[in-house]
Amino acid sequence: MDDFLQIGKTWIGYGLEISQDLFSILFLILLVCIPILYITDITQSKHAVRRNFPVIGRFRYFFEHVGEFFRQYFFSMDREEMPFNRAQRSWVYRAAKDISNTIAFGSSRDISKVGTVLFANCPYPTLGEDAAPLAKQTIGPECRHPFTTKSVFNISGMSYGAISKPAILALAEGAKKSGCWMNTGEGGLSKYHLQSGCDIVFQIGTAKYGVRDLISGKLSESKLREVSLHNQVRMFEIKLSQGGKPGKGGILPGDKVTKEVADIRGVRMGEDSISPNRHPDISSDEDLLDMIAFIREITGKPVGFKCVIGSEDWLDRLFQLITVRGKSTAPDFITVDSADGGTGAAPMPLLDDMGLPLKESLPMLVNKLNQYDLYERVNVIASGKLVTPADVAWALCLGAEFVSSARGFMFSLGCIQALQCNKNTCPTGIATHDKGLQRGLNPHLKSLRVANYVKNIVHEVGMIAHSCGVNHPRELNRRHARVVQENGLSVPLNILYPSEGYESVVERRNLGARPWSGRQDDNEDINLENTVVNIPLKQLSEKADSSL
Ligand SMILES: Cc1cc2nc3c(=O)[nH]c(=O)nc-3n(C[C@H](O)[C@H](O)[C@H](O)COP(=O)(O)O)c2cc1C
Repeated sequence: MDDFLQIGKTWIGYGLEISQDLFSILFLILLVCIPILYITDITQSKHAVRRNFPVIGRFRYFFEHVGEFFRQYFFSMDREEMPFNRAQRSWVYRAAKDISNTIAFGSSRDISKVGTVLFANCPYPTLGEDAAPLAKQTIGPECRHPFTTKSVFNISGMSYGAISKPAILALAEGAKKSGCWMNTGEGGLSKYHLQSGCDIVFQIGTAKYGVRDLISGKLSESKLREVSLHNQVRMFEIKLSQGGKPGKGGILPGDKVTKEVADIRGVRMGEDSISPNRHPDISSDEDLLDMIAFIREITGKPVGFKCVIGSEDWLDRLFQLITVRGKSTAPDFITVDSADGGTGAAPMPLLDDMGLPLKESLPMLVNKLNQYDLYERVNVIASGKLVTPADVAWALCLGAEFVSSARGFMFSLGCIQALQCNKNTCPTGIATHDKGLQRGLNPHLKSLRVANYVKNIVHEVGMIAHSCGVNHPRELNRRHARVVQENGLSVPLNILYPSEGYESVVERRNLGARPWSGRQDDNEDINLENTVVNIPLKQLSEKADSSL
């Protein structure tokens, strides 16, 4: 025992001596370095801060860098961070881990803030046994290969290149497990998208990566046909624009253009992969409808487009043209992306200042489709910061048929909002091709999180629907949500976004099974014979007595 203690003491002694030596060396290094840095700083004229505050001015860069990571943990309040606050992120993390998402004591949300969405609960919510599962929805019923799906919440486009191989694998496997679809983004189709067997929406970006004729640079009919031969590829989406950068094509920095990414895209490895800011062969509404018809003819599958809306004039022109050419020429779906949508990389003026946010563009699109009697024909997919059940339910209330999310799914994979997607340094391995950083992202384990996220979103959107008194989420309509105004009072969405043709939207959504489920003004249509309100008080008490 004594020997053992003696050996222990000796080792501790060595340890102390070594740390003393190391400390002395470090001290000497600092003694030499600090004066050198000091002289360098005061003699240079490039950086004012370093000249005025030699040596300590250098910490600015370090703090700026680590501040991005630590602000969210230490300094920001639950609801104040952008683009996504802690409350939103935490909800997704917990949903993805499938752990309890209940909150104690009370809401930390300020519900009197202008713009807050409040759902209109009904006095007698839908009972579990009356709840209906989400019905199947068919997109492009007249196509040779229509797409029928139950999924309401789907994975928005993020290209292989912008995100990593393990991220694509995890999303694809999660999509298969949960039954949602995955959009390829504009980077083409890789074997990683196909591996799990999930439903895929193939996006055709402005550079037509994956379906481009390498000589002419135009859309290649044979490549398009080849892609469409994959049964998993269910629909084709022409990308006109995305919320993060309307008017600018994809930007993939050279650091992220690996050999494999370059081969799939048909570009050079290590060089920035920049797409044109619009499809060179689509410069008018006529061209757009021609392109839709062409792709639909070649592939036999539903074809739509994704865009950010800047004004309703364009929608009028496009829908008038469709009316002239015939409803069958309409796109099978339109994905409307919010101006505050995400991106792998974008210039600040386009990211911050261009396009309309979803709260304006979604009701505008639905109203216009309805006005031109196209709402039945064209499915609306909404995207842009719709990451929690309330966000999704709000979009359904406004008339979206489907919702898709990119960053919500990134959070489900463990994204910490480090804002590094435009570099090759994403600390969670999602948006980097650095093998060392990808090590932490196990595709199979993360796929469970993706599937859990979808499951919990759908479950809680259902909960909101039931609380509003309807049987399933697609029965939600504009009367079921209200928005707080400047005077502190809320106004229902149907008043805020009135539409001449709104009633047909309402009818289509099969509303008003109950008088209190949001269709109050139609009460007179309801036969009151058998309802309690119509029974005289005396008769009512007799009824009660007899049933005792
Ligand atoms: C890393 C990243 C890559 C993206 N790549 C594409 C793309 O290739 N094509 C596209 O149409 N949108 C792309 N987007 C935009 C998303 O598909 C989506 O429209 C937008 O982020 C809004 O959804 P969100 O708020 O749920 O992220 C990308 C977004 C992110 C964050």
